Amino acid sequence: MNISKIKLVYYSPTGTGKRTVEAIRKGMDLDYDVIDLTPPDAEFKSHSLAKDELAVIAAPVYSGRIPAVAVNRIKKVKGDGTPAVLVAVYGNRAFEDALLELKDITEELGFKAVAGAAFIGQHSFDSEDSPIATGRPDGEDISKAMDFGAKVMEKIKGMGEIPDLEIPGNHPYRKGGGGDPRSPETDPDSCILCGMCARVCPTGCVEVTDIVETEKERCTACTACVQNCPTGARHWEHEGILKAAKWLSTEHGVRREPEVFL
Ligand SMILES: Cc1cc2nc3c(=O)[nH]c(=O)nc-3n(C[C@H](O)[C@H](O)[C@H](O)COP(=O)(O)O)c2cc1C
Repeated sequence: MNISKIKLVYYSPTGTGKRTVEAIRKGMDLDYDVIDLTPPDAEFKSHSLAKDELAVIAAPVYSGRIPAVAVNRIKKVKGDGTPAVLVAVYGNRAFEDALLELKDITEELGFKAVAGAAFIGQHSFDSEDSPIATGRPDGEDISKAMDFGAKVMEKIKGMGEIPDLEIPGNHPYRKGGGGDPRSPETDPDSCILCGMCARVCPTGCVEVTDIVETEKERCTACTACVQNCPTGARHWEHEGILKAAKWLSTEHGVRREPEVFL
């Protein structure tokens, strides 16, 4: 198989998926372009990939699934029998049906999976009180991601017809998401109204004027605003999120390792 270019396609609100696919791409050692599906305007842009390009498509795992916002944006990217490397990035609990879902979605869009991987990223709900996979992907993950990239190139080198790739997961998928609308709060005393929370929000649901307002219905709980707040003013008070974070930190603290499917 002759590949002219790599296309990195990712939805990555807190940046762990982005760092992971960048490392995979380094291991592939080929010219590349980026299609970042994270900013709100990704909703309105379409992309077409050619047969001789290799797509590396990454999304985070939310409740064992690909989050709906990511699904909608990935659907804007079309393939033409384009080979694809599929990457689910999860916060050290489980990736469940997410990678299989990513395979199903992208095959409908004209991609053909040549490899898949589940990598670990710092959990969105990680905090000092409830550390969950803090700092991941770390050096070990990055070197595994680079190694995976190199192995994919090796695999597709002499490949003609792409055989079906086996990916773990179940049909029907587990029920994902749901719950009451919720969003982080802003402490007015420490908030400096810099607008960072609004700039990093992938759905554009935060507005900063002389106060910070959040449209709860459109918040995906991605927590990018909390992680990027320069003064720590943005934080969770929602009981369900705080409870989940504590539970994840205590019950899912044992380090998980990346898994690759080649
Ligand atoms: C609403 C929500 C649900 C999540 N569900 C899961 C999950 O089911 N399993 C898991 O291990 N991590 C879960 N995570 C953690 C993310 O998958 C993880 O932090 C990932 O690294 C985020 O990717 P990003 O940095 O590219 O945005 C969840 C995070 C959020 C915000």
